[in-house]
Amino acid sequence: MSTSDLSGQKMWGGRFAAQPADAMQAINASIDVDKRLWREDIEGSQAHAAMLAATGVITREDNEAIQRGLEQIAAEIATGVFPFTAELEDIHLNIEARLTERIGEAGKRLHTARSRNDQVATDFKLWVIRASRETGADLRRLQKALVTRADQHADWVMPGFTHLQTAQPITLGHHLLAYVSMFERDRVRLIGAALEAAWECPLGSAALAGTSYPINRDMTAELLGFHAPAANSIDAVASRDFALAALANLSIAATHLSRLAEEVVLWTSAQFAFAQLSDQWSTGSSIMPQKRNPDAAELIRAKAARIGADFVALNAIVQKLPLAYAKDLQEDKALTFAAFDAFSLCVTAMVGMVETMRFDRAALRAAAARGYSTATDLADWLVRELKVPFREAHEITGRIVRRAEAVGVAELGLLGMDDFQAVDPRITEAARALLTVEKSVESRDSYGGTAPQRVREQVERWKEMFA
Ligand code: ARG
Repeated sequence: MSTSDLSGQKMWGGRFAAQPADAMQAINASIDVDKRLWREDIEGSQAHAAMLAATGVITREDNEAIQRGLEQIAAEIATGVFPFTAELEDIHLNIEARLTERIGEAGKRLHTARSRNDQVATDFKLWVIRASRETGADLRRLQKALVTRADQHADWVMPGFTHLQTAQPITLGHHLLAYVSMFERDRVRLIGAALEAAWECPLGSAALAGTSYPINRDMTAELLGFHAPAANSIDAVASRDFALAALANLSIAATHLSRLAEEVVLWTSAQFAFAQLSDQWSTGSSIMPQKRNPDAAELIRAKAARIGADFVALNAIVQKLPLAYAKDLQEDKALTFAAFDAFSLCVTAMVGMVETMRFDRAALRAAAARGYSTATDLADWLVRELKVPFREAHEITGRIVRRAEAVGVAELGLLGMDDFQAVDPRITEAARALLTVEKSVESRDSYGGTAPQRVREQVERWKEMFA
């Protein structure tokens, strides 16, 4: 046991004769993790004290001392001189004990009409709201980087895949913009959940039942930027779905990041050779001098898995807890902080890779032409020009692909006219002329399609949205 007057026993020790075991203290302490809530804790305490003074629960003088003391503590923490101690368990008790040490008696009045249960629910909610909004801004940066690259590559042709088999030619700009759409939904989900979290303020719910003091919960809710005080004190201290929602949203966004990372890994391989990462975002091998490894992309895939696991872990923690608060909930912060930290690093790395990756136009085009990627264009010509029903056109084209394979021609557009006409004599030079990858992408100009013109249109739409 410490000799410090800030010891844990000072905060709740009245009931006990003996000290907690060392391991008891170790398993119970969360200060190393939750010290990150210091800003929110001070903000919450300042609002609470101001409200206690406004309602006459504490005096104006006490409130002034508390406000000043908390400001000084904020400065101590910001400058790294605050004496954190594990004996005081968590950030809430560390700050409160320090306040009393600095301002005396008035500090001991701060915890009137409050419990650590509503305090931590409020602090943590404020943190999650802020982090979600910052993450939304991070996603915007990534979207901007992708839109810039899409703009530069609006008409670069590449293979589009289904089942990772060549499907149809697409434009690189179109492919990159697919991720911009995904990240937009991720952003909206994160911001939306933050708005929902900002609806109800837990503060004033006290331990679980509310309080007998004449507090003004509307005032604290408003001071802290919430819409209203939480309508049920039990729910307010027991629930962590605001964090679960954030983690679920984050893990969906991480899944999207991971898919893009997976494509970076594929594209930069010697087998695809669609792109090269810049030196800044490549790593070497200690044995193979030729290597340029996409480690950052690989780590994004792995971190996405961990972010998903953080959601699963918190969900598992919460789902078996009877109402209201239980200490299991203390573990919510480490998971949530880890997920947000990992995500933010992943986005930064992805922005760096996207901004500096070099694409190989010739390799992309050559790959786009392989695999008879314009077969659908021939079928569509048969439908359009000869009024052949699509199913029949599909059959005819299939036979032409088989013939091309048999005679060893890699692209339909290079197949001899006699071969086309051996399968169907109605096929003309006009049909064959359409079977280039450029014509193919140009023709897919339906709204949301891959035609360069449509891609440029979408680039403009995004730029307007970002403005
Ligand atoms: N450090 C605790 C947590 O993060 C604060 C709440 C403690 N409440 C309690 N009843 N022991 O959950």
